[in-house]
Amino acid sequence: MEGILNRGSERLLEGARNKDVGFGWFDLPDSPPERLFETVEWLRGFDSVVQIGIGGSALGNRMISSALCHPFYNELTRKERGGPRFYIADNADPEGTSAILDMIDPTRTAYVVASKSGSTAETMANFLVFLDSLAGSGVKSPGGNVLVVTDKEKGSLRSFAEETGCRSFQVPSTVGGRYSVLSPVGLLSAGAQGVDINSLLLGASAMKSSLSKKKGISGDPAMVMAASAIHHFRKGRNIITFMPYSGNLDSFSEWFCQLWAESLGKNGWGSTPLKAIGATDQHSQLQLFAEGPDDKLFLFIVPTSRRDLLMPAPSWSSLDDLSYLEGKGLGSMLDLEALSTAAALVKKCRPVLWLEIPVLDAFHLGAMVFFFEYVTAVTGLALDADPFDQPGVEQGKRYTYGLMGRSGFESDAAEAREHFSSILGISACL
Ligand code: PA5
Repeated sequence: MEGILNRGSERLLEGARNKDVGFGWFDLPDSPPERLFETVEWLRGFDSVVQIGIGGSALGNRMISSALCHPFYNELTRKERGGPRFYIADNADPEGTSAILDMIDPTRTAYVVASKSGSTAETMANFLVFLDSLAGSGVKSPGGNVLVVTDKEKGSLRSFAEETGCRSFQVPSTVGGRYSVLSPVGLLSAGAQGVDINSLLLGASAMKSSLSKKKGISGDPAMVMAASAIHHFRKGRNIITFMPYSGNLDSFSEWFCQLWAESLGKNGWGSTPLKAIGATDQHSQLQLFAEGPDDKLFLFIVPTSRRDLLMPAPSWSSLDDLSYLEGKGLGSMLDLEALSTAAALVKKCRPVLWLEIPVLDAFHLGAMVFFFEYVTAVTGLALDADPFDQPGVEQGKRYTYGLMGRSGFESDAAEAREHFSSILGISACL
């Protein structure tokens, strides 16, 4: 095991040194682009910011926002928020997009349109809808409201930036979508909401130097996680359950799921990421985890310090049997729930990894982002899987282009229809 993991980390360092395609995320913490901070200030002048993007161009934005901002951020007053309201238009779902349109004044909104390829159908479709609403509000030139983040040269978004002269940033050509959160793709909207993006980058950079100094498996948490994933996969445990004990890390789990699934699901290999939130999922999935098939590795993530909320003494005699809770904190209870659940799984001989973070702030979030990107990349490179491509995703994109009538994708449409016709349909209509 040590041999293949060393091979993975050597390949990673070499790829990063050579600035090979895919490896550019390794240097993102140390190289924020020029104009980043002044553009954040520009965004903060609006009433609302809408991030238009999908996959790696949206999940990281939601992850940072839910980890570091107030859970009801948009419902706070402007003074309490300090920044604009924030919305994400990722799915091409008319309900979600219409709901955002209901909430914004198009003229007082900044639209951050992010797409590495500059052509993803869902993103472009949402972009057209928001552009139309902006034009319908009397804004003649979109350049005052729209900012694009895309490839330096390719794609419709780059052409749009050239045609309209709107603000634009590059997704570095060596950085893939799901590894782009520490580029302008993720940083601009985070900064607009008041997140300390300097600390985010510093945390990532500190994790980079810490991991780069480690040698061998023991004492290196990234290698321990990569080794465990590979070991348990070989034992038939091809599901990794990502279980943070923090509601604020809910979207972090979704960001991790994309990173892990798209990077490692290759050549018949892959471990399926499964999101579970402590303690909520103790009351939903734990029965399966403890007594269902032994096909999962569990990763607990527990902040070792957090804000606490003390439980008062019960003031009704009918609640006397709750007196064991008196004076204890909700946060302390959550910590003990994590311990209890991990112990219950161990009792059933289920494998558990336990990752502690000192506190959930911008610095440690940045560190965690880098940590999981590193583990994912090393795992893929160790197994000879390219952790930076996504041919399965591209196939679906081509079928969509074809079915939507995009020129040049006619044979993809025919192929999609042919495969679809072999699917067994079930009807559950009332
Ligand atoms: O990781 C990836 O490259 C993908 O999941 C992309 O993030 C996703 O498909 C969106 O692509 P794009 O940023 O090109 O619009």
